[in-house]
Amino acid sequence: KTEQAGQAWAGKEQREKASAFTKSKRGKKSCNPHFAPQISEEWSKGAFLIKPGDEDIHTANERRLKELIGAPAGKLHTGRSRNDQVVTDMKLWLRDAIAMLTDNSLQLISTMVERAAIEIDVLFPGYTHMQKAQPVRWSHWILSYAVALSRDVERLLEIKKRSNILPLGSGAIAGTPFDIDRELLRTELGFDSVSLNSMDATGQRDFVAEFLFWASLCLTHLSKMAEDLMLYSTKEYSFVTLADAYSTGSSLMPQKKNADSLELIRSKAGRVFGRCAGFMMTLKGLPSAYNKDLQEDKEAMFDCYDTVHAVLQVTTGVMSTLKINQSVMEAALNPDMLATDLAYYLVRKGVPFREAHGLSGKAVFAAESKNVSLNQLTEADLAAISPLFGSDVSSVWDYRSSVEQYSASGGTSKSSVSAQVEHLRNWLKTRSP
Ligand SMILES: *[C@@H]1O[C@H](CO)[C@@H](O)[C@H](O)[C@H]1NC(C)=O
Ligand SMILES: *[C@@H]1O[C@H](CO)[C@@H](O)[C@H](O)[C@H]1NC(C)=O
Repeated sequence: KTEQAGQAWAGKEQREKASAFTKSKRGKKSCNPHFAPQISEEWSKGAFLIKPGDEDIHTANERRLKELIGAPAGKLHTGRSRNDQVVTDMKLWLRDAIAMLTDNSLQLISTMVERAAIEIDVLFPGYTHMQKAQPVRWSHWILSYAVALSRDVERLLEIKKRSNILPLGSGAIAGTPFDIDRELLRTELGFDSVSLNSMDATGQRDFVAEFLFWASLCLTHLSKMAEDLMLYSTKEYSFVTLADAYSTGSSLMPQKKNADSLELIRSKAGRVFGRCAGFMMTLKGLPSAYNKDLQEDKEAMFDCYDTVHAVLQVTTGVMSTLKINQSVMEAALNPDMLATDLAYYLVRKGVPFREAHGLSGKAVFAAESKNVSLNQLTEADLAAISPLFGSDVSSVWDYRSSVEQYSASGGTSKSSVSAQVEHLRNWLKTRSP
């Protein structure tokens, strides 16, 4: 990780960056910046020799520079402190991490949206309280998670906005007494503004906490989705089949195919939330400004990044390769799921919904008493419940026309789900680089 942070400083602009720190009004450069890339390279190659006397990466770099250029290396720390340097590095690192995770998320969302577009005609049972509730489009289910993930992307970009503020020049706590040009540093390092208060700048890790919460919520969404898919992939449902690459056979029971990838996605949500909760506990008791406790931020941030980065890619793989079984999905629909539509039938005839709901409930009860399904009640059975039931009630018992009724925006009719697909496609365009 040190390497990655170091690389943010290396490259063709290294010379300018190095000199920016030491630039004075007289325009003198106090050391030869030529050696900084060499040290960076030593870190990259794993050739940097850490010596027993090195207190940390900062003193190690300074010691090495001294070996290369002699006494002027002692000026390296002019106008900066470890406290403002380390938080600056964290922010540079997080900025790259956010770009990568945004990209991973957009890929997943795009995969889901295109899948939803292709499979828009597939119906299956929508569940509430784990019970069959109403027929919905399979695409409607897919998009419910795509929408949640699009919020995650927006949230991530918000974090970038709040975190992209330059702390360098804050010193250890009080600021810096030298006439450094913070505005120049800001421009060169690509920050949006400079921090307003040096005590806050060196002591705050809000951006890390926000990132950890972001990771927790994003993986909570993916964990829920994985849980749904796990159920749908069991023999009991048999709606979906995971590709072999994302499942394994049981080592003991040959009949089983375990949804390992989904279980791992689900488990990682717990891991990441643990990091978030742990770091919040670290922060809560701290006094002002920098304290060594803050180094806990790194392990949490790096681990959450690695985890979410991997999970997003695995989920994209799962979603692009799983197979559905349309006939099983549609066979799982049953007429009882149309009880709400039966109530709506009466609403269309002028009955207030509450009353219609009660009458539909009576029909459900009558069907149960006769040991038949709801659509097998006779016209006479229904007429006994309400005279408003006519022969046209048979139109209620069609799943396709049922879903088509839900055409208000956000609903599960074909037009409404197509509009969701279009909306997300357009949104993806605005968010893609
Ligand atoms: C769907 O499941 C049924 C019942 O298990 C099976 O007969 C059929 O071949 C499956 N269809 C596909 C496309 O896998
Ligand atoms: C209800 O109907 C099913 C067939 O649809 C039958 O197998 C079952 O025995 C019936 N139950 C009762 C209590 O009549």
